[in-house]
Amino acid sequence: MTALVLFGGGGDLAMRMLLPSLYFLEHDGLLPDGLKIIGAARSEETPEEYIAKVRTAVESKADGHWSDDAWSRLEARLDYLAVDATSAESLKPLKDKVGDGACTSFLAVSPSLYAKIVTAMRAAGLAEPEDRVVLEKPVGRDLESFRAIDDAVADAFSEHQVFRIDHYLGKETVQNLIALRFGNVIFEPLWNNLSIDHVQITVGETVGVGDRWPYYDEYGALRDMLQNHMLQLLCLVAMEPPSDLDPDSVRNEKVKVIRSLRPITDEDAERTTVRGQYVSGTVDGKRVPGYDEERGSDSDTETFVAIRVDIDNWRWAGVPFFLRTGKRLPEKRTEIVIQFKPVPHSIFGQDARDEDAANRMIIELQPEEDISLTVMNKKPGLDQRMQLQPIKMSLSWGVGGKGDAPPRRRIAYERLLLDALNGDSTLFVRRDEAEKAWEWVDGVSQAWVDGNVKPLPYRAGTWGPDAADMLMARTGRDWNTSDA
Ligand code: BG6
Repeated sequence: MTALVLFGGGGDLAMRMLLPSLYFLEHDGLLPDGLKIIGAARSEETPEEYIAKVRTAVESKADGHWSDDAWSRLEARLDYLAVDATSAESLKPLKDKVGDGACTSFLAVSPSLYAKIVTAMRAAGLAEPEDRVVLEKPVGRDLESFRAIDDAVADAFSEHQVFRIDHYLGKETVQNLIALRFGNVIFEPLWNNLSIDHVQITVGETVGVGDRWPYYDEYGALRDMLQNHMLQLLCLVAMEPPSDLDPDSVRNEKVKVIRSLRPITDEDAERTTVRGQYVSGTVDGKRVPGYDEERGSDSDTETFVAIRVDIDNWRWAGVPFFLRTGKRLPEKRTEIVIQFKPVPHSIFGQDARDEDAANRMIIELQPEEDISLTVMNKKPGLDQRMQLQPIKMSLSWGVGGKGDAPPRRRIAYERLLLDALNGDSTLFVRRDEAEKAWEWVDGVSQAWVDGNVKPLPYRAGTWGPDAADMLMARTGRDWNTSDA
């Protein structure tokens, strides 16, 4: 690969995530020899001015990992060109900068421009058979708009050249989940409806929507988080073992899961889904405004969604997956909880709540990266009747090497940028996967429209509307709490 072009190279995503990720890749000696990195954006500035901004952005993220040497290597690769990416004429000088070699273009711009940009790229010679394009989500807001954009992409690039990002797939623990499931023989025999009671996936955020409301109002939590990040996590938990790690082997298995999701019908929507919207409250000890106040007027956009998902296949029949995500929740916490069934007959007479907390695997993506297993254990001592207690065992990497400092927490984009540059699309979303996910999500939003299901208010700093607890409680279960 000769060049990486960052369209939107001066924007928020590029400065906060992409360029710091490239710095870390450079630091670790992982960038391909001779790779040029070209920022391309509308703003008329010189390469020197651009590079100075990149340095500030990288320094603020380098956090104890700054190296003058790594920076000068990265700096030597950097260049900038002011372009109108929607015009083939304006892209010609960019093609000249790229030269004859292969080019990966990252579209870190508004998705409303994707179709126009790829069409211009094709005309300017930036969509040759050896070139690649990386698309940041959201591609569309429903199946129809996804197809409209993706058809334009398909006119310019073949599917194997298209890398649709879901940055959750770049998170270390998500890949560790694949390692845990398919690199060990212990868990897989239990990974089904004979041993698993239910699965919970929580993606909680403390941040509010704030200035992003013009985007967010069009999407809501269902389209912003559930259609992509959460369904991807669900797929990795639920998929069958692929025959190898070839991109299509993995993605074939994921798409089978999405096809097996039971559609949410109009009749189900009230019982299996909860929409919420935050009103003012307190997060991290600070008063924060409600969504409508940030937006300046009333809106029916959900900032919280909880949903019960059933997977209609042999492995998962009768095992509900409970998904919830929201803004302005009490904690930034992303976790997958695999709740195994209780023992068939209890001989210890232990507290039922302890039993509930045990037999539980927690795959924590944020704030910590950890995989833990809670099991019942004997309480040390000479009690006449044996006393049990749940204990939590950490299965994360830190445990192996005694005294080793945990590895630096990587930005998810490091893995994904590297894979895109190397042409490995295993951790990227294939077109049929995205289409099936939109189709299912469109069913949910249609059921909300048909049933006039409006978001319920919840106070900022709480775990969403009470109805989200009821969703679980109705089935005799409850959400994991961080201290469990
Ligand atoms: C983005 C969403 O895809 O993911 C944001 O658009 C959300 O609304 C973000 O805040 C969360 O990502 P992370 O990695 O911080 O959990």
